[in-house]
Amino acid sequence: MAATAAKPEIHQFPCLKDNYGVLVRDPVSGLVAAIDAPTSEEVAAALAAKGWKLTHILTTHRHGDHTDGNLALKAATGCTIIGPKGEADKVPGIDKAVGEGDTFMLGSLEVRVLETPGHTKGHITYWMPAAEVAFAGDTLFAMGCGRVFEGNMQEMWRSLEKLTKLPPSTIVYCGHEYTQANAKFALTIEPENEALQARVREVEAKRARGETTLPTRIDIELATNPFLRPHSAAIRKRLGMESAPDWQVFAEIRERKNRS
Ligand SMILES: [Fe+2]
Repeated sequence: MAATAAKPEIHQFPCLKDNYGVLVRDPVSGLVAAIDAPTSEEVAAALAAKGWKLTHILTTHRHGDHTDGNLALKAATGCTIIGPKGEADKVPGIDKAVGEGDTFMLGSLEVRVLETPGHTKGHITYWMPAAEVAFAGDTLFAMGCGRVFEGNMQEMWRSLEKLTKLPPSTIVYCGHEYTQANAKFALTIEPENEALQARVREVEAKRARGETTLPTRIDIELATNPFLRPHSAAIRKRLGMESAPDWQVFAEIRERKNRS
């Protein structure tokens, strides 16, 4: 099939307490993927609201708040479940395991797989280069990043660094609405960052209106997310880590966030 420049139709919706579900539809083929499936009921309701028929689930990682809907949705729709090679045995209903460098088509949409371990051992990010969109699960959040549960800090830093190398215009969908808490913490790490200050004001206004703060964009995160800014002289000075390698500065920020 010839690649086209068609853009996916994307529908993001809240799930559970603070998760997001995302549906992606290829307008050329009509194929529809759910990025993770927090609950079958909420994903099914979102599909019904759009009038879309589920054909795929793309799992980012094994956690229940991303996979609990898999089996019921598969039973109801016969969808194909694609998930991370590194933890395939823990993804309910998985049909196809994928890892770093793998590429597949969702109809006319090219999807590339990036391994982004740290939050879990096998965590992956799905990137659609032509559509300039990535689905980062619990690796990257707006002004934050996932907790490092299974990997080590160096591994998580490498995963985040990989995401920072995506084109700056890449739109990033994330697994959770943690933005306000992340914003508050970010200001303790780099209070002099004017882009961060402006973003925090914007996020507060959005939440006050009951709006979502996601998706985000790589260039916005590069400018405001302290976890992606261990090279910042102001951050290094504040942490007393002027000559440490980036991953150690990242690790210190992550540990402070864990304690906050
Ligand atoms: Fe998770």
